[in-house]
Amino acid sequence: MTPPAPLTILVLGSGAREHALAHKLASSPRVGRVIVAPGNDGMPPAWERWGFSGKKDFETLARRAREAHVALTVVGPDQYLADGVVDVFRRQGLLIFGPSAAAARIEASKAFAKEVMIAAGVPTARHVVVESVDAAQSFLSAQPASAWVVKADGLALGKGVRVCENPQETLEAVRDLLRLGPSGAAQVLIEERLRGEELSWMAFCDGEHCALLDPARDHKRLGDGDRGPNTGGMGAVSPVPGVNPALADRMRGEVFLPVLREMKARGAPFQGVLYAGLMVQNAAGAADGGQYGVLEFNARFGDPEAQVLLARMQGDLLPWLLACAKGALGEITGERVTFKDATAVYVVAAAPGYPSQPMTGQKISGANAGDKDVFFAGVSERDGSLHASGGRVLGVLGESPGLTRESLDAARTRAYQKLSQIRFEGMQWRADIGEGLGLGAER
Ligand code: AMP
Ligand code: GLY
Repeated sequence: MTPPAPLTILVLGSGAREHALAHKLASSPRVGRVIVAPGNDGMPPAWERWGFSGKKDFETLARRAREAHVALTVVGPDQYLADGVVDVFRRQGLLIFGPSAAAARIEASKAFAKEVMIAAGVPTARHVVVESVDAAQSFLSAQPASAWVVKADGLALGKGVRVCENPQETLEAVRDLLRLGPSGAAQVLIEERLRGEELSWMAFCDGEHCALLDPARDHKRLGDGDRGPNTGGMGAVSPVPGVNPALADRMRGEVFLPVLREMKARGAPFQGVLYAGLMVQNAAGAADGGQYGVLEFNARFGDPEAQVLLARMQGDLLPWLLACAKGALGEITGERVTFKDATAVYVVAAAPGYPSQPMTGQKISGANAGDKDVFFAGVSERDGSLHASGGRVLGVLGESPGLTRESLDAARTRAYQKLSQIRFEGMQWRADIGEGLGLGAER
């Protein structure tokens, strides 16, 4: 029998997450040709690059993908999903991994996500949606003293959320996000602030069935010790010590499956990777894994969580993504997504001024296109060298066998050794990714 012809895959996006996705897919025995659109100049030269600048190019890109016999397109960024890239590709008869625009609302609108969570019985913080500062004020004055989080309703690259200490700060945040918000929000959510430890949990979904990945931890604040503004994510670790396996079963039964049922009932079945951002409390010694609340859903792989999860994932990613895109996960959910007994740590190097106003153009030394264990995001090539061209510039991966605290320390050491070879002017990074990590750990 002749072996099946090698497949062509197309990855949409230009960040380190897409770099990691294309890297993992390129290792599939079934993949022959890898195309990224638009990709970035730090990606391996063996990958083809197609020009692409978002929504206005969806139709052209889909036609080109059809002509190139692309077997599967994989979408990285939330904006393309919210803009309906999946709908355009499906209309042209192409297989694409990711939710429709209607299903991607679970990320694009925080108010919609709350509606779905409440209807599906998913544990989440109490909230109210307001359209004016006056409405916020009357809501807050009727509440007993507590701490709140204010969220812009639309996509905001992780920057539309303010965690507040008191009612004064809460009102300021409402005013800010309503008037000047990065997404120009017409409405904002005021949500009770949950305490505990954050966990990112993702699952492959085909509209009806799900297959859970391992949990990961993102480090969202800019500064060491979780200080400073929220960012898209400054580093990630997987696995997270102290997560009780019982919590995985509860995630499936209490979060992912009910949400899939609810989305399907609303005529917007979710196909792709669904990401639940959780706050977990009282995990230490709890037989059921502790208490948790869902803070948010994303309709895509987390960045930087994908970089650590894909490094640890065993076997071929392609069949999972194909099964989600075809609605055929039910045929393989007897199998589990399996992960190596290894610990992975990923550290982001960001431009000075990130996240509010990144300054770019600096020459990068110590990292070249295609380098092992470096994933590029905001870089462009000039005169034979890479230069910073975006907020999160690149990231480095450190891995170590085993799941012990020593493995975590060894993986951290590797990541930071790699990072110490890389320089550009004003480079910002966190020195404490993975430090003291673990549910129920000190804090
Ligand atoms: P989100 O985009 O909704 O995940 O919010 C970004 C970050 O804000 C989260 O990763 C948390 O660190 C924080 N956050 C969001 N909602 C809450 C909440 N209800 N309580 C405490 N922190 C929150
Ligand atoms: N790392 C968080 C996110 O991708 O939204």
